[in-house]
Amino acid sequence: MPEATTIHTIEARIATADDLPALIANETSRTKGLSAEYLALQGQGEFYVVVGLIDGEVGGRALLDCRDDGTNLVPEMKVLWVFPNARRKGLGLAMTAALEDLARDLGYREIFLGVSPENPAAIPLYIELGYAPTGEHRQAVNVSVLDTEAEPPMEAIFQKSLVVR
Ligand SMILES: CC(C)(COP(=O)(O)OP(=O)(O)OC[C@H]1O[C@@H](n2cnc3c(N)ncnc32)[C@H](O)[C@@H]1OP(=O)(O)O)[C@@H](O)C(=O)NCCC(=O)NCCS
Repeated sequence: MPEATTIHTIEARIATADDLPALIANETSRTKGLSAEYLALQGQGEFYVVVGLIDGEVGGRALLDCRDDGTNLVPEMKVLWVFPNARRKGLGLAMTAALEDLARDLGYREIFLGVSPENPAAIPLYIELGYAPTGEHRQAVNVSVLDTEAEPPMEAIFQKSLVVR
């Protein structure tokens, strides 16, 4: 008999204070305290926290930073992170798509992110969604999501048009 497939409900939406306990419960030594910090930043504006839900439970989070930090990478998707036990079920795709919709609704025509060229999970995900490397690189800045304790790698800047389909 063929193996049974479990169908999960996958959603992504802007985080609220009610999501904080689940986010905190899944913080690591590297991300300790950051969930509350991100929600506080969201309260200040131009900064959004999106959570991914699997069967109604928080399974990951990602950020959209629309603040102008002088780099021209605005808006930037940051720290996409799916809890290890919720991976490969579509949450990464769902949260990335939600951030794109949000950026589009805010009037942006493109979206940026930085990713290590050696990230074996994220690169195929971004390519699948139509992101392309700009050719620019920088020292990795959002290292909290990395699964490794190694020195922060260089990361490649990827861009996607939000108007050309
Ligand atoms: C990268 C990450 C967010 C992906 O999240 P996810 O929910 O597991 O991804 P999805 O289930 O939405 O996968 C979508 C597609 O991405 C690709 N992908 C995801 N994980 C992959 C892996 N480990 N190896 C190869 N391809 C992978 C596949 O094409 C996948 O489609 P498929 O499952 O139909 O083959 C997750 O692995 C993670 O949190 N990693 C640690 C943090 C990190 O690296 N964040 C990115 C920083 S730039």
